[in-house]
Amino acid sequence: MKRAILAALGLATSLAVPAAAEGIKVGLLLPFSGVYASLGNEIETGFNLGLEQFGAETGVTFEVVREDTEVKPPVALGKAKKLILQDQVDVMVGIVSSGVLGAVRDMVHGASVPLIVANAGNDEATGASCSPFITRMSFSNGQINRPMGTWMAEKGIKKVFTLAPDYAAGRQMIDAFTETFTAAGGEIVGQEFTPFQKTQDFGPYLAQAKASGADAVYVFYAGGEAISFVKQYDSFGLKAELPLYGSGFLTSPLYVNAQGEAAEGVITALHYAPTIDSEANGVFVAAFTEETGRAPSEFAVQGYDAARALIEATKTGANDRASLANALRQVSFDGPRGKLAIDPATNNIIQPVYVYETVAGEGGLTQKILAQLPAEADPVNGCEMAPVSN
Ligand code: BEZ
Repeated sequence: MKRAILAALGLATSLAVPAAAEGIKVGLLLPFSGVYASLGNEIETGFNLGLEQFGAETGVTFEVVREDTEVKPPVALGKAKKLILQDQVDVMVGIVSSGVLGAVRDMVHGASVPLIVANAGNDEATGASCSPFITRMSFSNGQINRPMGTWMAEKGIKKVFTLAPDYAAGRQMIDAFTETFTAAGGEIVGQEFTPFQKTQDFGPYLAQAKASGADAVYVFYAGGEAISFVKQYDSFGLKAELPLYGSGFLTSPLYVNAQGEAAEGVITALHYAPTIDSEANGVFVAAFTEETGRAPSEFAVQGYDAARALIEATKTGANDRASLANALRQVSFDGPRGKLAIDPATNNIIQPVYVYETVAGEGGLTQKILAQLPAEADPVNGCEMAPVSN
């Protein structure tokens, strides 16, 4: 099976040539508890699958030390310190929350340890607070939400009410959507930020949306909050009256079946859907489904591509913190999401964005792709990228 997968990716020959025959110590820093625990577990599954598929024949061994951020910035900072100083990892992978990424940024940069961001979209980390040691293989909050403002305005939607959790990711995603939606002539008729990890009852916010005169609602929620929000939106009777849109974390394949019929008809945008029709995605979906019995999500592909980026970097001979940081910034490949490259000006990933509708399929809910929007580099946003000397 593994050979068939490698051959299908055209990797069998290149992987037969060993790179640096040494061990690389990886610090995997993810939430394994708290509101984003399922996201952390999914990224780890994708990461391990990527190491298994792409790393098998490189001659490099990977030792992984995992730590739980608990989605708490101070806890994550302590765990990052342990991985860097005590475990002496060569590279760190992970981080789900934008708040956690903001908290560990200075430590990672100051210690000159390469970090492959496998989720957190914090715009600052590849903007004003960019670092040659931070390479993002996931997405930025602006990148996912900007295209949707233009797309919705072009579909004739004029008035929108927005909602998101009150922390860096929620604010950045809604700001990005608002910027392009209003530039295209749309109007934001109301906006609320709900207390992050504390809101159980969205009823008062849904009542505000209903009374706002909006044509549609646009939101960012992920993990447990996304499940509760989508179910409450439907049971409040809003779905028929006010169509629901958002960034695709709202209806992630990871938990869309827990939302059930409530998620049907919701339209969202994201950098990945398991229904992307390509050879590389077919191979990934088959391998992930064989391992887990279900389709992969965006979180799985981010872990998988983070592993592949690390392996591509080691194939250049990089084997210490500085050389890995330099090599990671130059990675590019054709993966399950399409063509990926790192923007040298910011170290953020450049990738296509897909608009999809959640629809009923044969084996449960699935993602019907409505549009593929072109890959665009993020604005530099104050990033001044300094080179790393090896
Ligand atoms: C974030 O905090 O950056 C984030 C968390 C979950 C899904 C997407 C983004």
